[in-house]
Amino acid sequence: MHRSTVICSLTIAALFSCVAGVATLEKRQASDSGIPTVDDVTNPVCKPFVAIRDAIMGDIFHAGGRCNDNARAAIRLSFHDAGTFSLSLEAAGEDNGGADGSFLVDPDEVLRTENNGMQNIVALLKPLPERFNVSAGDVLHLAGTLAVLACPGGPVVNTYVGRGPVKNVNPHNLIPDTHDTIPNIIDRFNDMGISVREAMALIGSHTCARQRFVDQAFANDTFDTTPEIWDIRFYSETKRNESDPGVFRLPSDLGFAQNSLTKDDYNRFVGSLSTQEDWAREYADAHEKMSLLGQDVKTLTDCTEIMPETIHLRDITVTSSGGAVDPAVDPGKLEAEIQRTRSIWLQ
Ligand code: HEM
Ligand SMILES: *[C@@H]1O[C@H](CO)[C@@H](O)[C@H](O)[C@H]1NC(C)=O
Ligand SMILES: *[C@@H]1O[C@H](CO)[C@@H](O)[C@H](O)[C@H]1NC(C)=O
Ligand SMILES: *[C@@H]1O[C@H](CO)[C@@H](O)[C@H](O)[C@H]1NC(C)=O
Repeated sequence: MHRSTVICSLTIAALFSCVAGVATLEKRQASDSGIPTVDDVTNPVCKPFVAIRDAIMGDIFHAGGRCNDNARAAIRLSFHDAGTFSLSLEAAGEDNGGADGSFLVDPDEVLRTENNGMQNIVALLKPLPERFNVSAGDVLHLAGTLAVLACPGGPVVNTYVGRGPVKNVNPHNLIPDTHDTIPNIIDRFNDMGISVREAMALIGSHTCARQRFVDQAFANDTFDTTPEIWDIRFYSETKRNESDPGVFRLPSDLGFAQNSLTKDDYNRFVGSLSTQEDWAREYADAHEKMSLLGQDVKTLTDCTEIMPETIHLRDITVTSSGGAVDPAVDPGKLEAEIQRTRSIWLQ
């Protein structure tokens, strides 16, 4: 990250640079937080996205350093937008979904049963493409990659812009249902162009998730014991099928941990702090791929330089648990990292 330091020596000439230094104080504070400013961003194509980033992190994810309902919904939304991509439909010359932001344009997609729970995030993101004169796909998928960072522990996912207008309304019945069989779910991921290994990395986003509609008697139950933290507990807890109060196990997630098609790739993410780093990297690669389904990356611009830094769990775990399985987060260290790295978005 860029850190400009103003050094004032006691010469007359240098006084001018000291004065100039005062004028840029505000800018330097933002830079010191690790959050790139418009001036820090080198690619002109990416500069306008700094304001969109701030609207999403500051206004929509409110307390920008934390994983809240809107951030969790934005992650799921990026999957439901992109996950209707279909190689077989594409080969047949039919509408094939993809990461195009159609949710923000077609009024009916969010009303489908499979998309229940995303009405709020869609309503919040909908005005942004017109307000900032960018495509719906760019807004939706920037929101998704920012949301991952809003959940402490979440990695930087390479983030591209330049998607064109929405291609088509998402085809129906292509988002996997939790009651589908594991082979059917895996077939569907393959038809998206997503491998089992990538799918098992992506499913770890259920570390920051709640359910409302699978079983309404357990509305708001989470999928692991730490829904505010982007950690690998989801994998180990689901594998053990522990019964924790307020935690819900999706049939498909329990299946991934057991089924011969998926369990080896799933189990790669059951482990310790170093496993957390492996998962974060693989998740980031798989999410990047997901956010580009149906898009031609050669026509897009990599704007990853606008993203804030990640909050590494290795920096915020309780000292005694270094390297242990499922290390616990120290709340004081977490708060200090949020204040340090997300300052401009905190209210
Ligand atoms: C086999 C594939 C998947 C199935 C069957 C599945 C199923 C579900 C279900 C049933 C919910 C709860 C919805 C509700 O009742 O409110 C949920 C939530 C969620 N899913 Fe998935 N999911 C899958 C894959 C993914 C992927 C690939 C991602 C992202 C990379 C993802 C991200 C999320 C998130 C973040 C939530 C929480 C949303 C919130 O708290 O509002 N899921 N998923
Ligand atoms: C919006 O962006 C397009 C290019 O993507 C440009 O041609 C157009 O002039 C812009 N409109 C406004 C109002 O800035
Ligand atoms: C679930 O959480 C939402 C806020 O996110 C709240 O409005 C709702 O009342 C909660 N439902 C239950 C059953 O706790
Ligand atoms: C998980 O545990 C519940 C009871 O808590 C049990 O009903 C269910 O069969 C278990 N599922 C698996 C896949 O082990």
